[in-house]
Amino acid sequence: MSLKGKKVLVTGGAGFIGSHLVQELLKVGAEVIVYDNLFSGDQENLKDIEEQILLIRGDIRDREFVKILKEHEVEYVYNLAAEPYIPYSYERPWSFVEINTMGALNVFLACKEAGVKRIIQYSTSEVYGKARYLPMDEDHPTYPLSTYAVSKLAADRLAFTLHHEIGLPVIILRQFNCYGPRVTQPYVIPEIISQLSRGNRLKLGNLKARRDLTFVEDAARGAVMLMECEDAVGEVVNMGSEENYSVEELAHIIGKLMGHKEIQIEVDKNRLRPLDVEVLLCNPEKMRKLTGWEPRVSLEEGLKIMIDYYYSHGKKWLWEKKLVPEEKIWKKPSRK
Ligand SMILES: NC(=O)c1ccc[n+]([C@@H]2O[C@H](COP(=O)([O-])OP(=O)(O)OC[C@H]3O[C@@H](n4cnc5c(N)ncnc54)[C@H](O)[C@@H]3O)[C@@H](O)[C@H]2O)c1
Repeated sequence: MSLKGKKVLVTGGAGFIGSHLVQELLKVGAEVIVYDNLFSGDQENLKDIEEQILLIRGDIRDREFVKILKEHEVEYVYNLAAEPYIPYSYERPWSFVEINTMGALNVFLACKEAGVKRIIQYSTSEVYGKARYLPMDEDHPTYPLSTYAVSKLAADRLAFTLHHEIGLPVIILRQFNCYGPRVTQPYVIPEIISQLSRGNRLKLGNLKARRDLTFVEDAARGAVMLMECEDAVGEVVNMGSEENYSVEELAHIIGKLMGHKEIQIEVDKNRLRPLDVEVLLCNPEKMRKLTGWEPRVSLEEGLKIMIDYYYSHGKKWLWEKKLVPEEKIWKKPSRK
């Protein structure tokens, strides 16, 4: 199956991964609708392609979402809308569960009701948590170590059970960490680039944490290939590079690329997480077999592109320009 000429809706399409996915979908000739409440995402991420897409501002928790699917005769849906940055879940766990789990459930049921042909639920390697063996394949036990990971795992498992219970045509994509331009959250790589643009001193959290990193354009291309794969429906599929780096190693690589002869790294206790995933390493064999996908961009190339992007955008990531107003953050209603 090819997505050429097909109507595809991307929730969270104004975000980091979402905006790259939209670009890849346009490349294969899909008709794209972005559905996003612009909480962490921004129209600026879609500036170059705004005339080729339809942007609908809306919330995945809205029960009226099904009407959008029906009205636009949407055939394929990617669900990326989420609260994805782990440390924010310490402040607003309700919001994470409301959006990442309940919002996803609303998307699944709406897709079923509207007769959507296929859905990709964007899950995460964080669901694996503490490594029992490496590299991690899809059978690795899940042991989530954050409220974010729990909220995503709940959606991941809802997708799986709804596939069997009501025939939801869903593919569960467990994405390992992504990096690249248009990042919207203070993940570790953009944070290192931001700090090193102001000098050679870094304040970071867990330096030993190791992550498997995929350049965002490779990830987006993979997500398109996976949707086009008939055999993937009902399956859990990992996507990652099969290589990992510690935060400390990344800091030195980025330091060199940014022209620093040496860098000084200090561990900032405030950045240490109460529970942290020490190591993630993807076994992407299933993805490879199903789609033939391979990452194309090396870590060094991808980081260079990301650094150039930062400098050509006024040395500010999106969140450094845009602070989310307090009243837009969903909190548990007071019982008073
Ligand atoms: N970035 C990574 O390394 C990574 C790795 C694995 C999985 N993921 C998953 O990929 C997805 C995208 O992550 P990202 O890093 O691009 O983050 P992001 O914050 O850039 O993207 C999330 C998007 O969802 C939108 N959104 C948030 N709440 C919404 C709501 N209630 N209704 C509609 N839209 C809403 C935001 O405005 C934003 O555009 C998430 O589901 C995340 O869990 C990300």
